Amino acid sequence: MAKGTATSFEHLTETELTALLDPDLMPRHIAVIMDGNGRWAELRGLPRMAGHTEGIKSVREIITLCRDLGIAALTIYAFSQENWKRPIPEINALMLLLEHYLQSEMDALIEKGARFRAIGRVNSLPPSALNWVRKVERETAHLDKLMLTVALSYGGRSEIVDAVRRLAQDCKDGKVQPDQIDEPLLESYLSTQGLPDPDLLIRTSGEARISNFLLWQLAYTEMFFTPTLWPDFRRREALIALLEYQQRERRFGQVPGAVYPPSGL
Ligand code: IPE
Ligand code: IPE
Ligand code: MG
Repeated sequence: MAKGTATSFEHLTETELTALLDPDLMPRHIAVIMDGNGRWAELRGLPRMAGHTEGIKSVREIITLCRDLGIAALTIYAFSQENWKRPIPEINALMLLLEHYLQSEMDALIEKGARFRAIGRVNSLPPSALNWVRKVERETAHLDKLMLTVALSYGGRSEIVDAVRRLAQDCKDGKVQPDQIDEPLLESYLSTQGLPDPDLLIRTSGEARISNFLLWQLAYTEMFFTPTLWPDFRRREALIALLEYQQRERRFGQVPGAVYPPSGL
C-alpha cells in the first residue's frame, strides 16, 4: 500500500484488514492509553464501573491480537498517579477489578505465552492487589511470546525522577562517573529497561494528550488518536490502527532518500 495514501478501511472485514497488513512493517512495541470507559458507561446510563468492566474485554482482545501478529511488546496504561485523585469508591472498585482481572486471567496469559510485568509506583496499591501483581509476574516470568507491561500508579515524570535518583546514588557510590551518563545509560534506569521504545501509541476516546505516560520512551513514537471509546476498541479497531501506522513515514529527523556522507553529518 502506498505510503501517505488516505485509505478508508471502514468497509473492510477483519479478514480483509488482516490480509492488508505488511508483516515486515509490524510495530515491535505498542503502547495504549485505554481511555473513555466512564463515558462509555454514562452514554448507556450505567455506573462508570460498568465501562471499566467492559474495557477488560478490549484488553483481552488486544493482547490476543498482539500475540497472533507476533508483536513482541504491549504496554497498557491502566491507572495513572493522577488517577488517585478520583473519588475513593471508584479507586476502590478499580483496585478490586485489577485484582479480579489478574486472578481470573493468569492462566489465559500463561496459555498465550505472555509475560506480565507492572511498572509504576506499585507499592501504593492495596496489599491484596499488589500480591496478585507479584504473583502473576512470578508465574509468567519464564514466558516470552509477548511482553505485557501494565502501568499501574504510573507517572512518566516520577519514573524519570526515580531513575535519576538511583543514578545519582550510583554516582555518589562511585559506580558511575557523571561523564559516563548518556541516553542508553539513563534508559537503563527506567522501568521499561530492556524494551524497545513504542513504535505506536494508541489513545482512545478522542483525547489527544499523553497524560504523563512514557514521557521519555515516546520521543519518536507514531501517535494514533481515535474517538472510539476503550470498551468499543476491539480487534477490528486495532487492525485499523495498525494499518494506519503502516502508512506512516517514519523519518527520525532525516530527509527521506538522502545519501549521507560516511560520517553521517
Ligand atoms: C480510562 O477510562 C480508565 C482509567 C483512567 C482508569 P476513564 O475512567 O478515564 O473514562 P472517561 O475518560 O472518564 O470516559
Ligand atoms: C489516562 O486517562 C490514564 C489512563 C488511561 C490510565 P485519564 O482519563 O486519567 O486522563 P486525563 O485525565 O483525561 O488526562
Ligand atoms: Mg479518561
